[in-house]
Amino acid sequence: MHEQKFGGDWTDLKLSCLDAYLESYRSIFSKNTNAQYFNTWYVDAFAGTGSRSIDAATGPLWNVEPDSDIDCDPDAVAYRDGSAMIALGQDSPFDNYLFIEKSKTKSTALQSAISEKFPDLTSRCTIVRDDANTALTTWVKERNWNKDRAVVFLDPFGMQVNWETVELLGSTGGIDLWYLFPFVARLLKQDGNIDDGWRERLTNLLGTDEWFGHFYKKTIQPGLFGDYEVTQRDATVENIQNYIHDRLKTCFVAVAPSMILRNSKNSPLFALCFAASNEKGAPIALRIAKSILKDQ
Ligand SMILES: C[S@@+](CC[C@H](N)C(=O)[O-])C[C@H]1O[C@@H](n2cnc3c(N)ncnc32)[C@H](O)[C@@H]1O
Repeated sequence: MHEQKFGGDWTDLKLSCLDAYLESYRSIFSKNTNAQYFNTWYVDAFAGTGSRSIDAATGPLWNVEPDSDIDCDPDAVAYRDGSAMIALGQDSPFDNYLFIEKSKTKSTALQSAISEKFPDLTSRCTIVRDDANTALTTWVKERNWNKDRAVVFLDPFGMQVNWETVELLGSTGGIDLWYLFPFVARLLKQDGNIDDGWRERLTNLLGTDEWFGHFYKKTIQPGLFGDYEVTQRDATVENIQNYIHDRLKTCFVAVAPSMILRNSKNSPLFALCFAASNEKGAPIALRIAKSILKDQ
């Protein structure tokens, strides 16, 4: 059986935040009589196999193909639940589950894991083998956002989420988003000399090319043959974190301060972000997410 192999302590952190939020979310929707009117969805757009081996700690994989073996370790000895199993294992289950996974091997493994561990919930589950952006776009357009409410979890390896997808999720007014935003510091070269391909990918990730002006400053230096212009990186962890926050604020009603997930060498790998799109529900959603992020 193929199992996933990625993540160290930061993986535990992101999954425990998700777990705690799903528990609170379902508790509200199952206990509050007004909220019971809604049809709840859990959407895992990078679902994986359902479980993960615990002996590896990698960061964002900027160039990985979904079907590569980089996260598969048939010899791994110990596994923990991944996001899909955590969502299905909630005491109060969601009305519907959508799992999106591009890899054929992994989506098949996920299907088997659901049938084996949660036979009573299989009728509530849909597995779509496709690109996350494509599948999310179709799913959002098929919903009735007066009646549907969802928690969407975006847990990519790297820069697979297009900004248009984030905008679309924010526009629904019915989605709470947890997004493991790849921490782009490593791609921001000191002198700003970033090749066109990477520039384009950063623009696609952040939804604007204004990131360059935000992460680099130009100064005039005196030289032997007159003054000249120097481009220098100005991208502290805080600066990048604030920028991601500001970008999310352009399409969601409320955004929590993100948590930086770091590897064992203390390098930032991802910003774990929470954003709420429902005007009425946002204050309570934000309060819950903030307290979860603070307690970790
Ligand atoms: C970090 S793993 C997800 C782990 C999962 N959330 C868990 O906790 O078990 C990312 C997954 O996304 C899949 N993937 C990569 N690119 C994708 C894409 N464009 N659309 C959908 N899935 C993709 C990979 O095959 C991989 O299984």
